This record gives sequence, C-alpha cells and structure tokens, in this order.
Amino acid sequence: MTRKPVPTKPPVERAFLVGVEIRNQPSLLVLEDSMAELALLSDTAGLKVVGETSQRLDSPNTETYIGTGKVEEVKALVEETLADVVIFDSELSPRHQRELELRFGNTVRVIDRTALILDIFAQHASTREGALQVELAQHEYRLPRLTRAWTHLARQAGGASGRSGSAGGVGLRGPGETQLEIDRREIRKRISKLKDELEKVRAHRERYRAQRKRSQIPTISLVGYTNAGKSTLLNRLARANVFVANQLFATLDPTTRRVELPGGHGALFTDTVGFIQKLPTTLVAAFRATLEEISQADLLLHIVDITHPNAMAQWQSVNQTLIEIEANHIPVITVLNKIDRLPDPEFARQVASEFPNSVAVSALNGLGIPDLLREIENELFEKYIPVKVRLSYQQGQLISLFHEQGQVQRIEHKRGGVSIEGQLPGRLLAAFQPFFSSDIPPSDPEQE
Ligand code: GTP
Repeated sequence: MTRKPVPTKPPVERAFLVGVEIRNQPSLLVLEDSMAELALLSDTAGLKVVGETSQRLDSPNTETYIGTGKVEEVKALVEETLADVVIFDSELSPRHQRELELRFGNTVRVIDRTALILDIFAQHASTREGALQVELAQHEYRLPRLTRAWTHLARQAGGASGRSGSAGGVGLRGPGETQLEIDRREIRKRISKLKDELEKVRAHRERYRAQRKRSQIPTISLVGYTNAGKSTLLNRLARANVFVANQLFATLDPTTRRVELPGGHGALFTDTVGFIQKLPTTLVAAFRATLEEISQADLLLHIVDITHPNAMAQWQSVNQTLIEIEANHIPVITVLNKIDRLPDPEFARQVASEFPNSVAVSALNGLGIPDLLREIENELFEKYIPVKVRLSYQQGQLISLFHEQGQVQRIEHKRGGVSIEGQLPGRLLAAFQPFFSSDIPPSDPEQE
C-alpha cells in the first residue's frame, strides 16, 4: 500500500485529561472506562495524551467544577507535563471554562468532551450538509463562550474547520487571531445564514426521500456505538466502498447502498453516525441528516461490538439516544458483531440470548451474514405487526396500500376519514407511523 506523503506537521498538541465522577449521578460508564474513552477520543483528534487525573465529588464546584485543591494539583501537573490543553470529561459551563483558564494562568486552554467531539466531527464531515451542521454546532457552542482567552473554537469555527482544519491534525492549536475579532453579532448572523442553507439542503433531501418512499423500497438504518463496525457491515452487505477506519466517528454522513435480500427483494441500507455516551442531545440534534434517516427507516440494525468490555452499556446508551430522537417505534435487529474475535463461538450464542431479537455475525469475515439477511427479510416481509391507524380520505393512497399489503381486521368510516385496525408488514410501519391512533400504540412486534 502506498501512502500519500504527509506535509510537515505542526508539533502534536499535548493534552492533559481530567475526569470527575459526581456521586449519585447516574452514568453509563464507570469513571475509569469513561476516561479510557476520552483518551481514545483525544487520540482520534490527533492529540498526545500526556497525563490524567480524576476526582469524585458530591457536586461540582460552582466556579471551577473541580475543588480548589484539585485545581492547584492540575495546574502543577500541566506545568510538569508541558500540556497545551486540558480536557474535561464532563460538560463544562462557559463560566467553568473561563475560571479554570484564569486559575491555570491563561497558559493552557481548557475544553470539554463536547468541544473535543465537535473537533472530531469537523475533521470527518465530508458532505456539504455535514460540514454545514458541524459549523453550526460549533458556532452555537462557541457563542456563550466568546472571550479573548477562547482561542480553540474561535479558530475552529471560522471556516478553517472541517477537512481543511484537520489537515494539520486536530485544529486545536494556533492563535486563532482572525476569529477573535468576530463579535457576537456576526456569529449570530452566520448562525442564521447556516440555518437557511441547511434548510435548503434538507428540503432537497426530503424530496429525494419522498421519491424513495414512493418507490416502496424498504430502508434500513445501521445504528450503533462508535467503532462497533457499521461501515464494515455495510461494506460486507453491499460490497460498497464505505470508509472504514479504526477510529471513533469515521462516518458522519449517511451513506446509502442498495442490497438484494435472499428472497429477491431489494432494500436500501444506510450507514449513520456512531453514537457515544455523554454525547449531548444538542449535539446529536445537530446531526439531523443521519438522525432523520434513522427515524424514517423501516427497520434498524443495531450493531454492537460484542468483544467490547462495555458492550451492554454501549447498547443501552444507543437505545437511550434512539428514545431521545423518537426512533424507538421502529423494529430493531441487534447485530452482535466481531464474533471472529471470540475464542469460543459458543460464547456468542450465549450472549445472543441476552439481547432480544439478535443475530451474531462477523462483518469482517462474513460469519453469520446469511442468517442476518434472512432475519432482515423476515422482519420486513413476513412479520406482521398489529396497528391501528386513522387516515383521512386525502390519504387514499395509504388506505389502498393497507388493503393491498396489510391485513385489515376492522374498518370504521368516520367523517372525513377511516379508522383501520389490522396488521402491517414491518417495512410499511414507517409510512403509517404518523397516523397511528394514540389510543392503541403498535403492540409487540414479536407477535406474528
Ligand atoms: P464509526 O464510524 O466510528 O461509527 O465506526 P463504525 O461503527 O462504522 O465502525 P467501522 O466499520 O469503521 O469499524 C471499526 C473497526 O472495527 C475497524 O478497525 C474494523 O476493521 C473493525 N471491525 C469491524 N467489524 C469487525 C469484525 O467483524 N471483526 C473484527 N475483528 N473487526 C471488525
């Protein structure tokens, strides 16, 4: 393999990590695991981790988040390790950040997990919509934090972000002078312009999706914790050349591929952004492109790296986000991936019994893929799910679709429309979802 020559890089930035566990605050990962993940995120962002410390607190200090003694300790460690940036595992308020930078003598920048993730997002967004979303999220994050001391995102958010910003690594370095001159008013103007542009791009995508829906090809979204193997699985299924990397968030934009199922039906598979714990909902919301794909899907494949020590916590964290983005009504197959790494294949079967509706596979060597395809076919075309919908006569197309492809058990004509009770194949659920009657939610998809 030939590698592209890399231009002389600026020196790698040195990061010092700080973790805090607040007692009685529920967290999916224990402090040590969350810190290990933060180190991996830093590495993905191109930073060199030079040290870390952590603290358990009853509640955060209002001014400095960590206790005053700890502030002094971090200050000394930062000097000793020659760190350029201090990264907190928790979300810091603008006040915390300002106060901490001040206490550290304004010689080091203080950022939090969200800023770090935004930075990685900026490096990976590869479509116009993705780049617009990242820039918007960066500006919104930055606005309340706009001070002279704030150079990190100042530089990042000013168009030097995205792929160009990543060329020299992480985009955390540099004085960022030009952006420091931008005042709040200009940022607000930029935010509103970005929103307009995004609306236009989205309207276009919406038209495209409507066309796809009309063509009646079921759509399947791949979701999962970052690095679970979504892109590898999509590659395996479609032999598509989706970018695969052993990095967090290698994928930021939806990538859709058509795959033929064993029974001869076609389906569209879409890769989506990797989820991560402590990903603030506002940040998740910034990635509507992929999230909308998820909430419109007929079926979700939830990919889990079964060899990861926190597989269960990651699975729960993704489920939580699916609830937040209101995608929890969609049928799910849990795909337990990377079974080629398990010393004992029997273990895969055991674990599979702990996850509902799951299939164990190796996206890398193809093990279990035929079972997965059969299960998808079954979910989409053979399993019928009980529903009750209320449709107006304007939705004539949907009324006939229910008659043609569903099983009508009871139909009641009312003024202006009909109520239909019956069963629909999984692939049609999304089309009818906006019209579900609230009195009877769709019931257990396990029922045939
Ligand atoms: P994000 O883009 O971060 O959301 O990641 P992703 O879920 O798309 O993961 P990706 O497909 O990029 O895979 C992450 C890493 O896991 C890569 O190094 C893959 O080669 C590896 N990987 C994926 N599937 C398997 C598998 O079945 N077995 C093994 N051994 N490795 C795998």
